[in-house]
Amino acid sequence: MTAQIIDGTAVAARIREEVKQEVEALKRDYGIVPGLATVLVGDNPASQTYVRNKQKTCQELGMASFGYHLPAEASQAEVERLVRDLSANPEVHGILVQLPLPRHLDEEGVLASVALEKDVDGFHPVNIGRLAMKGREPEFIPCTPHGVIVLLDSVGAKMEGANAVVLGRSNIVGLPTALLLIGRNATVTVCHSKTRDLPGIVRQADILVAAVGRPRMVRGDWVKPGVVVIDVGINRVEDPTTKSGYRLVGDVAFDEVKEVASAITPVPGGVGPMTIAMLMKNTLTAAKRRVSELARA
Ligand code: GUN
Repeated sequence: MTAQIIDGTAVAARIREEVKQEVEALKRDYGIVPGLATVLVGDNPASQTYVRNKQKTCQELGMASFGYHLPAEASQAEVERLVRDLSANPEVHGILVQLPLPRHLDEEGVLASVALEKDVDGFHPVNIGRLAMKGREPEFIPCTPHGVIVLLDSVGAKMEGANAVVLGRSNIVGLPTALLLIGRNATVTVCHSKTRDLPGIVRQADILVAAVGRPRMVRGDWVKPGVVVIDVGINRVEDPTTKSGYRLVGDVAFDEVKEVASAITPVPGGVGPMTIAMLMKNTLTAAKRRVSELARA
């Protein structure tokens, strides 16, 4: 069997186009421009690239983008003051604090100072707490995990009753993805660096989400025929045949696993483009909720 390739680039482009049209309608009908504020602390080159891409996409979709860049030595009080000011600013509908923060900062304290209704990343402790609990709804769902679920839905993957295995338990991807899969009635196993017999557990998966940051760790003989694979990994590996000297690979050995799986995301072009698309959608949602509030007032 050769797997269906799950085209995240196309799904993300469709979402961005829908957002763009709704942004135009909000401007036309209510004079409101959805705005996203990004907060970057320090000079991590990967974070700088992510933030730039988020700002660029805002512009492409007609949204306002407010970029704040604090020095690596910024104090806890300075970062929290900025986030509180943005929380009070009516032109800002969504706030994204780029992670990781420099080590001297208390991440939870910073994330807790984002207004709940502007927490478009879904990382406020209250939103994560609601995500973890039955019968409670977070204001927003974290972007990459939400993108994973949208891609599973895009190929009609049945989550209810499925054995879902999540590789990785990070706060940003693995853990919230596991919570979302539980919410969709999957039976979820979360694996991590201390897990015994990883290939044996992965082999039981009907749905596999890999988010560990280890190039090509999941091999063809680790997976069950027909598994649906979502590869969140984006790893640079040396490749002297390319102009840059490197190429990007996932956590899954794509060439091997695609021969066994029923559907699989490529890297690049799978989950990657979904993260920003979901962020834009959350920011639009935040602005639309604000319009409804104003209409009620
Ligand atoms: N760092 C890596 N991914 C993310 C993300 O989705 N949101 C934020 N805020 N920081 C990140």
